[in-house]
Amino acid sequence: MCGIVGYIGHREAYPIIIKGLQRLEYRGYDSAGVALFDKQGIHLCKTKGKVAELATKCSADLNTQAVMGIGHTRWATHGEPNDINSHPHLSNSGDLVIIHNGIIENYETLKIELENRGYNFTSDTDTEVLVNLIEEVQKQEKVKLGKAVQVALSQAVGAYAIAIYDRKKPNEIVVARLGSPLAVGIGDNEFFIASDASPFIEYTKSAIYLEDGETAVIRIGKEIKVRKIKNDSIVKPYVQELQMNLDQIEKGGFDHFMLKEIYEQPEAIRDTYRGRMLPEKGIIRMAGVDDHLSKFLNARRIIVVACGTSWHAGLVAEYIFEDLARIPVEVEYASEFRYRNPVINKNDVIIAISQSGETADTMAAINLAKENGAFVFGVCNVVGSSISRASDAGAYTHAGPEIGVASTKAFTTQITVLSLIALKLGKEKGSISISDFNMYLQELELIPDKIEKSLQINEHILKVADFYKNAKNCLYLGRGYNFPVALEGALKLKEISYIHAEGYPAAEMKHGPIALIDEEMPVVVIATRKGHYDKVVSNVQEIKSRKGKIIAIVTDGDQQVSKIADHVISIPDTFEAFTPLLTTIPLQLLSYHIAVMLGKNVDQPRNLAKSVTVE
Ligand code: F6R
Repeated sequence: MCGIVGYIGHREAYPIIIKGLQRLEYRGYDSAGVALFDKQGIHLCKTKGKVAELATKCSADLNTQAVMGIGHTRWATHGEPNDINSHPHLSNSGDLVIIHNGIIENYETLKIELENRGYNFTSDTDTEVLVNLIEEVQKQEKVKLGKAVQVALSQAVGAYAIAIYDRKKPNEIVVARLGSPLAVGIGDNEFFIASDASPFIEYTKSAIYLEDGETAVIRIGKEIKVRKIKNDSIVKPYVQELQMNLDQIEKGGFDHFMLKEIYEQPEAIRDTYRGRMLPEKGIIRMAGVDDHLSKFLNARRIIVVACGTSWHAGLVAEYIFEDLARIPVEVEYASEFRYRNPVINKNDVIIAISQSGETADTMAAINLAKENGAFVFGVCNVVGSSISRASDAGAYTHAGPEIGVASTKAFTTQITVLSLIALKLGKEKGSISISDFNMYLQELELIPDKIEKSLQINEHILKVADFYKNAKNCLYLGRGYNFPVALEGALKLKEISYIHAEGYPAAEMKHGPIALIDEEMPVVVIATRKGHYDKVVSNVQEIKSRKGKIIAIVTDGDQQVSKIADHVISIPDTFEAFTPLLTTIPLQLLSYHIAVMLGKNVDQPRNLAKSVTVE
């Protein structure tokens, strides 16, 4: 959580930093700040609120054309979001200024030690402790900033991506990372620092991603020097050519990123299977799976670890892997798995699913699995992310940048990748016939067109949203493959509209939740013709007899449920295993429209951040 940006070069730093922070607001947006550096010293401006508020405040406060600076957009961990707790933070002498993404877990102990040495603290943050610790090391050991950062970070426990400036060394910025991402864009005599590449994509396509435990000194007109924090050894950084384009990170005429990303799903899914699925040849090629095929084929079981929406994609995978590949699957919340002393075997395959590739709990679950000798396969969207690098092998979803905090295209592309793997393994194991395998490939190829068709009913969904926008609660029901979709539909509604919503397997209703049903309760029922349709029809009847309001997601041409439901949303027919790719679409649109109608900030819902790098 938190986004950091820095610039050092020949352009005016302020607009680059502000624009960069706006692009990183998905990482947190409760307060923001900027520090610019010129011959007069450090110019600091910070405020509670979003980057737009910072820009309004700073345009009056900052009067400098500085070509160096750092900026921060915050998701509060230590200390409430207010002006004082906002970053950047100054050291006691006023010489050092820092921005930080992460948590210093032992900050209280460090703070007491520093207080005993006469340091004062104005904020409640762990970051202010860190900057003063660096200052103290400088004082005690008479070392330069780079070395002081290394020594101080060796005493710190926790996670960080930091950028720090010392006004006594006005031509350099020092950065470091452990557990939080940090990219350095390399331009012509200029460097860009950021939590991801989006703040500098229009200036350069060359970037270095710092590895965990590395620090770098970045100097105007010089090469970037990367070292290991632990042993000071010099590291030759790997310069990557970025694939990202500017139009991928702009709204492109849509009112919100979320809506754009919903509409991008057909193309995103095509990008996910392009080059991997070759229906004309009857094969699926996936290097990460092909190179480790025996691991998958001999797996005692697959354990999926993930959080949130990615966990829901994992639940869909459980159905598809067990159904098509006949491999037992367990799906675990990464946050529970990492702490409950799980039994992990060398013959287990761990699939870690993460859009951002930075989720702290998922990362910790991977580390635990690796310590126990399991093979880890990562399914990530962000190329070069920590989870993708920590995995033994993996497959990217190729969804393109997902900026709306509520995950949409990441979910459907995760399901697509997982379906490809399950189909491939099913064919290799002989648990599905060659003709069925080929039929699945042909059908998967049609899914983007079917999503396009589903998106055409947006106007109808708008009317349904208008009808239910004032609901206080909402239930989502599904069975089989669509049970995880019910969970995902409920999550989408609650996170962006703040309406309380719960997802259940439809048959669980009678074991408790049915008590909630009355004329005030909207119930979204996924009742596609495949699967357990007749059973779901009975569940729908049960809701109707208790006067619940039914919104049914049905297959085109449906008769039975459509007769009973208050509102009907039809989607094209497909194979049961692929229904989640279609049933999800109207649920995303429904949540989106309700949230917009309620005047909520769809792309940046309260209290949330896109990349959850704290546990
Ligand atoms: C919900 C949402 C979150 C994420 C979760 C995991 O819309 O986006 O629930 O799915 O924080 O994030 P990743 O997939 O980046 O590990």
